[in-house]
Amino acid sequence: MAQQIKKVDTLITEACKAYEKRFGTKPTLGARAPGRVNLIGEHTDYNAGFVFPMALPMVTVVVGTPTQSGKCRVETLASGTDSPQYTEFQIKDLKRGTPKWCNYVKGVAAQMSGNVPSFDAVIASSVPLGGGVSSSAALEVATYKFLEQMEGVHADIPIIEKILKCQKAEHDFAGMPCGIMDQYISMTGREGHALLLDCRSEQGRLVPLCDPNVVVLVTNSNVKHELTGSEYPLRRKQCQNAAKVLDVASLRDATEAQLEAKKAALDEETFRRVRHVISEIKRTDEAATALENSDYITFGRLMVESHDSLRDDYEVSCKELDQLVEFALQMKSEGVFGSRMTGGGFGGCTVTLVEAGSVEKVIEYIDAKYKSVGNKATFFVCPPSEGAKKITL
Ligand code: ADP
Ligand code: GAL
Repeated sequence: MAQQIKKVDTLITEACKAYEKRFGTKPTLGARAPGRVNLIGEHTDYNAGFVFPMALPMVTVVVGTPTQSGKCRVETLASGTDSPQYTEFQIKDLKRGTPKWCNYVKGVAAQMSGNVPSFDAVIASSVPLGGGVSSSAALEVATYKFLEQMEGVHADIPIIEKILKCQKAEHDFAGMPCGIMDQYISMTGREGHALLLDCRSEQGRLVPLCDPNVVVLVTNSNVKHELTGSEYPLRRKQCQNAAKVLDVASLRDATEAQLEAKKAALDEETFRRVRHVISEIKRTDEAATALENSDYITFGRLMVESHDSLRDDYEVSCKELDQLVEFALQMKSEGVFGSRMTGGGFGGCTVTLVEAGSVEKVIEYIDAKYKSVGNKATFFVCPPSEGAKKITL
């Protein structure tokens, strides 16, 4: 069965209750930001290419109050973080430390312009942590929307700058050299829409995804292989080096013909990495057009091609993700249009486009097959949801 997704109001109530219990007063400010799923366009954002994500109905909520003490006191209600779940730090002395989960909060605080005061805060979330649907970006963006209310000058800051600050928080305080996709969609997502984001111009095009006959199914493999941390920066570096060899500013500007012409100057592995990026950027553009035309068959085919390319050329999939995609595709005759791994890879989630009327049957099938190989998946039926916003308490 698909998971029940906790209502945002319930999360807010839980966060406020926990805040009162811990700090003895009511919080005065709040903000929320969603996780995301990328429909297609993987490992293309840091190559200035296209990505096609949507915001999820699963969100992270931050509630709290500015204080004068200089000391920040923060608690997370999320399970699955490192311990302790409550921590303190000085607003004037922001540096990476432990618990690790708080680095995302500190990283964003370090990006705020003006004099952000110290604060007390509680975090609650319905985004699965470490599942490849950007719980970290949701935490960064929710923290930003929370803190900007204390800053007083936020109205003047263009949204792209806010997004870049959240991305920088992740680079500097989590040590993850991510692209711009996750923070962008968490900040700007729109209900009933996916976003075709051009990561070169940093401009997005909203594409309606509100046909009641199709749904987006997010399946968490519930595995996370430790490779992500080291392999992601390696892929980024390989792409940068290849761009130099191909004499282009980024792989966005490279063509298949250029790649063929330079084949001898690239090692076999780099050649495949670049082939993925060039083909994925093209697929993503085509997929957005297919969705605009309600051509789900084409969209689904492109999803599968994307998965195969990520598995074989970019080598960021894993056994469990391949199994989930394979099982989903066995239900093609039952309404599955396409399925692929989503996010950075090496675990996390798959995304499947499926006819609404078949989704429970499809879930049941994948669930049973995945169990038969010794694994347990979690399923979320996800309507495209809204981006970050302030909560009025
Ligand atoms: P993803 O962003 O795909 O979920 P990451 O491994 O990049 O996976 O980030 C997950 C980490 O982000 C968690 O281990 C935790 O440190 C932090 N995090 C995310 N959401 C929360 C939250 N609600 N409370 C505390 N920490 C969180
Ligand atoms: C994510 C990363 C994104 C993007 C994605 C792969 O983990 O945060 O910026 O690069 O991997 O498409």
